[in-house]
Amino acid sequence: MASPFAAPDSQQHQPQIPWASLSHIFMFGNGKGGVGKSSVSANAAGKAARSGLRTLIIDCNAQGNIARELGYKRAEWNDGGAGLLESLRTGTPLTPQRGVRENLDVVMGGPALGDEFGIFFHTLLAKEGPHAYLRLLMCLLPIAHEYQIIILDTPPENPSLQRLALSTARWLIIPVKSDGGAEDGLAQIGLEFSYVRFVSQLNPHLELLGVLLFDTGRTYTGIHADVRQQVHKVLGEDAHMFKHLIGHTESVARLVRKRGLLVQELADRRREGDRTIPETVEGLVSDYEGFTEEMFARALELRKEAAA
Ligand SMILES: Nc1ncnc2c1ncn2[C@@H]1O[C@H](COP(=O)(O)OP(=O)(O)O)[C@@H](O)[C@H]1O
Ligand SMILES: [Mg+2]
Repeated sequence: MASPFAAPDSQQHQPQIPWASLSHIFMFGNGKGGVGKSSVSANAAGKAARSGLRTLIIDCNAQGNIARELGYKRAEWNDGGAGLLESLRTGTPLTPQRGVRENLDVVMGGPALGDEFGIFFHTLLAKEGPHAYLRLLMCLLPIAHEYQIIILDTPPENPSLQRLALSTARWLIIPVKSDGGAEDGLAQIGLEFSYVRFVSQLNPHLELLGVLLFDTGRTYTGIHADVRQQVHKVLGEDAHMFKHLIGHTESVARLVRKRGLLVQELADRRREGDRTIPETVEGLVSDYEGFTEEMFARALELRKEAAA
């Protein structure tokens, strides 16, 4: 006799997702703000685009700081996240702003991802349950093949948007600052990672690519060792630390947002003779160059290992 209680089919509600073709999606996340998520997202994307890779940034922040990094805050086409919210609401493909730089398109963030998003998303959660967290991926799928690199910049203060991003990305990168108290933000993102990857299994392909030291003295090796210890305490001994770091260069960081130019673009201006840009820009250019190359090389290596 057939049992009246059919075994639950865990695959039943799982939409078919071509995970293997989504290895080019990177997410910057940390439960803490001010650790470099937006700065590194923008500059790594800029570096990828400049090297000829078709690149997309998705700004999942209500603050919309990518607009400041790329200088489009006051552009008439800056929709403040309205387009992203509309796609999420209707489940239709994302509509990036094309050509923000050569090879670089942007799905904008901004205030629409605040309360308005919250009101919409809690209704979607009530209707769909955890699968609502796959909504961003569903909106990205139809255009994901147009890009060689996709970078998600994510907020610390909005766990729903963070989960949407974690359910979309293949690789999580956690930037940390070395000013103490790194554990809180790490524990938060670590728990969210576990929920998405292991508990709900919404994203079976999510991997921690590594932890990146941000805004730190390049020679402070003792402090770096301390942070490494904290990272391993919270995320486990296997958590990879990137060899490259982003050095403390406050004067350049301020100019980035004042002028709306990426670090590399500021360096170009300096080379063209603009002496209002400090020489220290060169160190930061090479930090971003080194890190971006390491990030892509490591993703490629881990992908090969996973496929072997
Ligand atoms: N190399 C750097 N050295 C010092 N401060 C930096 C550097 N790069 C960026 N900043 C500043 O650090 C702050 C936090 O960076 P941000 O990328 O916005 O962090 P998050 O996105 O995690 O909140 C910003 O004010 C930014 O201007
Ligand atoms: Mg940010």
